[in-house]
Amino acid sequence: MGNTSSTLPPDHHPFQHPRRLRSEALKTSSRTPRSLRLKIPAFLHRPTSTRTHPSASEELHSERSSSDVGSPYDDASNVDTSSIETRASISPDYERFLAAFPEYALTASLDILRSTELTRLDKPESETYVDYMGGSLFPERLVKWHSGFLQDNILGNTHSISSSSQLSARHASEARKAVLDFFDAPADQYTVVFTSSTTAAIKLVAESFPFGSTSSLILPADAHNSVHGIRCFAKHNGSQIHYLPTLPRGGVLPDEVMRFLESRSSSEQALDAAPSLFVLTGQSNISNSKTPLSLFKNAKESGLYTLLDAAALAPTSIISLQKTPVDAVAISFYKMFGYPTGVGALIVRKDFLELLSKNRPWFAGGTVDVVQVPGSIVSLAEELHERFEDGTINYLALPAITEGLQTLKPLLPMLPLRLSSLTLWLVKALEDIKHPSGVPCVQILSRTPSSRLTKIGEQSDVGSVISLLFHDPQGNILPLSFISYCAFKHRISLRTGCMCNPGGAATLLGINSYMDALTEGATLRELESHAGRELGVVRISLGLGSNFNDVQRVIQFAEFISDEFERQKAWTDWMNLRDREELGPCCNTASRA
Ligand SMILES: Cc1ncc(COP(=O)(O)O)c(C=O)c1O
Repeated sequence: MGNTSSTLPPDHHPFQHPRRLRSEALKTSSRTPRSLRLKIPAFLHRPTSTRTHPSASEELHSERSSSDVGSPYDDASNVDTSSIETRASISPDYERFLAAFPEYALTASLDILRSTELTRLDKPESETYVDYMGGSLFPERLVKWHSGFLQDNILGNTHSISSSSQLSARHASEARKAVLDFFDAPADQYTVVFTSSTTAAIKLVAESFPFGSTSSLILPADAHNSVHGIRCFAKHNGSQIHYLPTLPRGGVLPDEVMRFLESRSSSEQALDAAPSLFVLTGQSNISNSKTPLSLFKNAKESGLYTLLDAAALAPTSIISLQKTPVDAVAISFYKMFGYPTGVGALIVRKDFLELLSKNRPWFAGGTVDVVQVPGSIVSLAEELHERFEDGTINYLALPAITEGLQTLKPLLPMLPLRLSSLTLWLVKALEDIKHPSGVPCVQILSRTPSSRLTKIGEQSDVGSVISLLFHDPQGNILPLSFISYCAFKHRISLRTGCMCNPGGAATLLGINSYMDALTEGATLRELESHAGRELGVVRISLGLGSNFNDVQRVIQFAEFISDEFERQKAWTDWMNLRDREELGPCCNTASRA
């Protein structure tokens, strides 16, 4: 059969997670998913056992969690910073950083992750990766494990009933449970629809939402195009579209949203109206603003259905659907732990999914029970999530989702502390870099943490995205394509452009008037020629694998831009290549507007 019993008892699986609840069925798989082992430095260990040699799974089990907040381990003064295993530990800059942010050392598990699971980042001549908002980087063991798992098991299409199909179905169900568990979503209220991405998850809601002529779609201006696209369905059905305005540094003003919701709920029109949808972006991918998820409570009280785009929020923030009872949440897993691409999810309330299923514009293989042919009768699949999973789900990839979530979960409480320390340090260093003329080299456009975090488990009010512009000594904005060229030469993976977030970009760049003046058929090229420059920002985004070295490389890159001789030399090279049309795609703004 292929799917034979494990040859080792669970205790002998070196990387098995003890908390992992396994169904009996999964135990029959020849190589069951194992969580990835992280070797935690001794000073982060909680004395969990009197045994002298805890198993590897106990080591992982002893990992810090958000519930540990307030333990002696949180006292930064107790931290032995010399235990952080990273190449940066020898640099005086790193010592200065640790002196300024001693609590950073509490996140040493992430240094271990970096040195054991992201080894490709520290190979000689390797790329400095600062595009985590584009996609996270996978721990190498996750891919190795997944490859072994696939080679050892026979997984069939979940639509059959063979053993191989049942094995796939069990792993899919395990992954669904892992997603619910990760987002603290009660299984009696929520289910998970697997999709190909956040975008596909949002579209599932958009195309099935019962928009009518008295409905409203309420959405933030600082949002991804995959959110703005919902308005096509609303418009098609004659619904009102209401944009929540963006603040000068991005995001929405919570008080204004509350006022809007209150005025709406008190109006008679709202009471009579058809269902309306309220959408928020958890974290902006360009302005770095986070939206208070408590607004969903107000929206619910105003009788609105609610959708959260958590693509940018979920990779570094804890989301609890017990605490934030939103109707649906859209995520992409590659943004959270880098692998696999092509799998996302809609985590959705069952009652909301029931409503959507009455209005789905089509059916497909996998979503139905009985179809009359020829004819018009269609009975939908009994399982709610199946009604939305068109065709065959990505059943080979789903075991890696379970593993990825198990890996990220214990690390997630550390990320805000670590990333806010790195972000604050980086922003300050960049702002201090001046041209010899005294003009600042860098203009930060996005939001930065308003306060410093000191404990594991604390949440930051913003993410770890830095959107900025580089200026020349006269204060003119340096072209994004020149910066892309220099970054390419310096082996820095950053991103330039508008990040598929036109509302956020227009606000940060102060060009909202261009938006107002747009006409049908407008192109980015026309817009840029009107503005007299390339439009967009340079985006640095930190994430799961980021460390001080990465930040230092970005600072060195900015120093290079501020160096008159070096910048002029690069400029001449860039212009020559441009004139000869020899610039590759890496040196264009490379982002969709
Ligand atoms: C805030 C936000 N929403 C939605 C998306 C779309 O995600 P995907 O391309 O995985 O569908 C992104 C992608 O960067 C994003 O940052």
